Amino acid sequence: MAFLYTVPTYNNPTGASLAMDRRRQLAELASAERLVIIEDDAYRELSYDGSAPASLWSLAEPGAVIRLGSFAKSLAPGLRSGFITADVATIKRIRESGLLDSGGAISHFSSLVVAEFARTGEYSRNVEQLRAAYRQRRDALLAALSEHLKGLASWGRPAGGYFVWLTLLESQSLTGFPGAAEAEGTAFMPGTAFYPEASSGVDSLRLSFSRYPPEALAEGARRLGNALRRHQADVR
Ligand SMILES: Cc1ncc(COP(=O)(O)O)c(C=O)c1O
Repeated sequence: MAFLYTVPTYNNPTGASLAMDRRRQLAELASAERLVIIEDDAYRELSYDGSAPASLWSLAEPGAVIRLGSFAKSLAPGLRSGFITADVATIKRIRESGLLDSGGAISHFSSLVVAEFARTGEYSRNVEQLRAAYRQRRDALLAALSEHLKGLASWGRPAGGYFVWLTLLESQSLTGFPGAAEAEGTAFMPGTAFYPEASSGVDSLRLSFSRYPPEALAEGARRLGNALRRHQADVR
């Protein structure tokens, strides 16, 4: 079976979201080509500028999109719990596969914990708190990047999720740079980690803002700017 895997909303690693017209085109294409789309929608709840864009699943004809949700970001990664939204026939196929027969595939305890959070309203409150905290962190990081990396790199403004994707303006290779950044006391995920071939993503990096308070993110961006300037001077 041919399928397309995509993270169209608050993407990991880029933080970008697919535009509405592209979503509609993709949903139509899936039906026309009988292509199944696996929509990884793990970051949907973490929206900072209004509601998240409509999912591919909600736009497509039944059967075209299987949407994967997760409680890893909205509640706790350790629960190892998530969910699927798909057409009835697909859900039935999954339900009737060996997955549920072994007794080991789905954690009933975790599912009960999630259900209890939902029943008491605690889940929604938690998501609201995360949104407020992460929005502040995103804004702090973006402001610090503008201050310390101006003229060095370009980046987008993620409307949700965890990540900011940076691309160096002079399309220089970042080979050897992670060490220099660590020496400055900051770290990032090299762009090459997100491509199958080593030659792509060499001038890009992913920053994650979900874990640290605003002050730490601002300091991290300052150090990153210093490390980048030093790296650029070294390779010249
Ligand atoms: C795109 C994407 N999907 C899913 C997950 C989480 O998956 P899980 O529910 O298996 O922890 C992550 C988190 O790292 C992610 O970035």
